[in-house]
Amino acid sequence: MNEHITKFSRADAPPFRSYQDIIATDSTPVAPLLALKSNPPQPTDDIPLKQYTSQAFFDLEMERMWPRVWQFVCREEHIPEVGDYWVHDIGDWSIIVIRTGDGLRGYYNSCLHRGTKLKPSGTNGRSGELQCPFHGWTWNLDGTLNEVPCAWEFKYLDYEANRLPEVKVEAWNTFVFINMDENARPLLDYLEVLPEHFAKRDLTNWYTYIHFQKELYCNWKVALEAFMEAYHTPVVHPELTTVVSDWNLQHDIFGDNVSRDLSAMGVTSPTAQPKTEQELLDSMFLGDPSTAKGNGRMLVPEGKTARIVIAEAMRRNFAEKFGMDLSNLSDAEIVDSLKYNVFPNVMVNAGLTSAQMTVFRPIGNDPDRCVMETMRLRPFRPEDGRPDPAEPFRLREEDSFAMVPGLDPFVASVYNQDTSIMRWQQEGMRGSRKGKASLSTYQESRIRRIHETLAKYIGE
Ligand code: FES
Ligand SMILES: [Fe+2]
Repeated sequence: MNEHITKFSRADAPPFRSYQDIIATDSTPVAPLLALKSNPPQPTDDIPLKQYTSQAFFDLEMERMWPRVWQFVCREEHIPEVGDYWVHDIGDWSIIVIRTGDGLRGYYNSCLHRGTKLKPSGTNGRSGELQCPFHGWTWNLDGTLNEVPCAWEFKYLDYEANRLPEVKVEAWNTFVFINMDENARPLLDYLEVLPEHFAKRDLTNWYTYIHFQKELYCNWKVALEAFMEAYHTPVVHPELTTVVSDWNLQHDIFGDNVSRDLSAMGVTSPTAQPKTEQELLDSMFLGDPSTAKGNGRMLVPEGKTARIVIAEAMRRNFAEKFGMDLSNLSDAEIVDSLKYNVFPNVMVNAGLTSAQMTVFRPIGNDPDRCVMETMRLRPFRPEDGRPDPAEPFRLREEDSFAMVPGLDPFVASVYNQDTSIMRWQQEGMRGSRKGKASLSTYQESRIRRIHETLAKYIGE
């Protein structure tokens, strides 16, 4: 038995402070968005493991789900100038998202002559036109066919009908999405409560300072779902239990597409031995309390909590460093991890010091492989000019996250812990005699909702 797991009796209600209990003792009034609780009852049916392992189920996702959902591609900062493009791949589909004089457009990455990809998968760059690398058919950025070499051989060709076929492209809060369904509802509508909940989080003057793509041996949902619950925290990340909530995360479900978890920082988790407020504050800085302010250790005054001290320090730091005014944010909005998921594969973190966008995509048509792509963002001073976004750093399955330039070693080790489980889970699922997953009713409720929404697309 793992020494970090506290044993509780089977009680009707969990015997620990809820997220709402914790934020009620902060120094500021509870922010209305954080006071919301939404976790409608769901069935308790088991989830068939073939939804993670079977090629047939994967193919249904590729046929019925992926072409009909809004998929995150990149940030606007990645394609700021006319001609800048980003190639987005999902299964056999490949889409070129490109900035034109007329805004962002998305084209199927397949030549209308004999089908060659116009740009290689997984690439980005700048291009004044889209020219096929095989025989040189060329399209203008607006998708019109410009040039066909040996045009006398193609007198029959209807140039207008040979515009590049398009997908929908829309952006929200600097994040660029595509949808292959021409009847798709607008992105803002699809995002449900997200735009409202991010109303105070304008990420315009933020840039990507860390960008990695990690290959994993597991279904894309295995990787995604590992970040949708903290039920595993005391077993996989015992060192986290002394500074952050786990079993007492709040999990909210707002609709088919959007859910969130609210995780209190600067508190002892229900699974760890209680600590003093000063110990909590010290451990927030991972063994080096002096980094808190650059000089000297911060102290928790009588009557305050570690959370309150951190929130106050961050208000000061953000005003000094970035000229940002955080006085309209509650302690919890400043200190806590507020993590939103958007169906199918997006996870966006609204933290203040480092906002973060992560997506999980299958690799090719393989149900057993995926890539986890993360962009970490931080603010810059507009008067200093926008820094270039970090280049994507590619990690193979066996590579440690510690190789990612700039990634905090502690965060890297937490990611290593998470991803090391994924192969075991995928392999275990493939060899399961039970063939089903039995989810907890609350802590894994958001995972269940993923499968319910997926079923609406797949029709099974
Ligand atoms: S396949 Fe593209 S020009 Fe021939
Ligand atoms: Fe984890």
